[in-house]
Order: sequence, then C-alpha cells, then structure tokens
Amino acid sequence: MKVHPEAKLSDQEIAVIEDYVRALPDKNYPKDTVRKKTSEDEFKLWKKNHISIDSVPISPNGVRYSDDFKNWKVLSLNTLYGETMRVTYGNDVVVNAIEAEQFDPIPDGAIVVKAVWEQVENKHGEISPGKFINVQFMVKDAKKYKDTEGWGFAKFSTQNLIPYGNTPNFAVTSCISCHRLKAKETGYLFNVPLKINTKS
Ligand code: HEC
Repeated sequence: MKVHPEAKLSDQEIAVIEDYVRALPDKNYPKDTVRKKTSEDEFKLWKKNHISIDSVPISPNGVRYSDDFKNWKVLSLNTLYGETMRVTYGNDVVVNAIEAEQFDPIPDGAIVVKAVWEQVENKHGEISPGKFINVQFMVKDAKKYKDTEGWGFAKFSTQNLIPYGNTPNFAVTSCISCHRLKAKETGYLFNVPLKINTKS
C-alpha cells in the first residue's frame, strides 16, 4: 500500500537533488595531515625547500598545516569574482578577541584559516564549492613573526597541501602588504564579522 503516493519525486526534482549531492563539498577537503604522494618533480621541489617533520606540511617560516580548523567557528563565507568560494574559520582565541573587539593587538595563539575552492554553478544557477584550491593560515605569535607584524602566514595548495614560498621571509613580500590595510581597524584581518554570537 502506498502511504504517501503524492510524496513521489518528479524526475526534475530528482535531478535537482542529484546535482546538489554531486556538488557537496566535504569530499573536496584535504583529507588529513599526511602528505599524499605527489608527482616526483613536485616532491623534489618540496623537499629542496622545506623541512619535513612527521610528513605534516610546513611553511618555510615554520607555520605547520593542521586539520583542526575544520572544527572551528566560521567567520565568513564569500565568493571572489564568481570564480572561487572561500570559507574563513577562527579558533577560540581569535573568536574571543573579535567578540571583545580586542584588535590592538589580537593576542598570541589566535589562528585564522581560509579555505578556497573553485566555484561551480549547476544548471539551476545554484553555486557550490568545486575542486579544492588552497588553504591559507594566519597564526599570531608576536615574537616569532616580528617581520610580518606578529602574524605567521602560510598557504598550502592542492590536495597535496604544497607549502607556498621559498624562503622563511616570503610573507614580507607576498602577504603582509594587503593585510596592513586592516592593521588598525581589525588587527590585520579582513574577515571579521560584527558579532559572531549575541549573548543576550
Ligand atoms: C592582494 C592583497 C592580498 C595579498 C597579497 C594577500 N591577501 Fe590574504 N586576504 C586578502 C583579502 C582581501 C582577504 C579577505 C577576502 C577573502 O576572504 O579572500 C584576505 C584574507 C586572508 C585570510 C583570512 C583572514 C582575513 O584576513 O580575513 C588569510 C588566512 C589570508 N588572507 C592569508 C594570506 C596569505 C597566506 C597571503 C600570502 C601568501 C595573503 N593572504 C596575501 C588580501 C590579500
């Protein structure tokens, strides 16, 4: 006996759900902290330029990749030129600093992570994250990262999480300049929501 015959999905509805499921982002996260096999050339280059401890990708300035951000609060979700989608996460230290509007300075231990995907649009005009592109870190340690205003920058690209930069001070030329625009207002961070939680 059919209990809910009217609940049968039309072909078009099934197609919409299939498109949606196909575009789900989870499978596109870098899976874990262990480096996957890279092509031989990529690996040689990586070995030449970076120290490796327990196979966790490390930026030339010492910022280590970690999966922890996947459990943190989301500070923002945005798209750039309709080409990429970005999710920015913050650990408790930075979330508390934002809530307290403590930007000068944001305390040591704060970490902000931005994950970037290609943006795909299905035939119904819905957008979702496609292929994983890179994940970018900003780690606050005033003593360690004096040359870049106390922030340790890092970028890990592709599913292989290849670290960006050839020398420890790559961020002086490649990263800090834009972020200085936000120095006073929000402690060098762009993605700062007005209030993450309303506690009232
Ligand atoms: C051309 C200017 C520019 C440069 C250079 C730049 N950034 Fe950013 N960055 C931005 C903007 C704008 C945002 C906010 C928009 C967004 O989410 O993409 C941002 C956001 C971020 C965030 C999220 C935290 C925040 O401030 O919102 C991280 C992490 C980050 N960038 C890391 C890096 C790293 C690592 C480098 C160097 C490899 C770098 N950035 C170089 C402009 C820049």
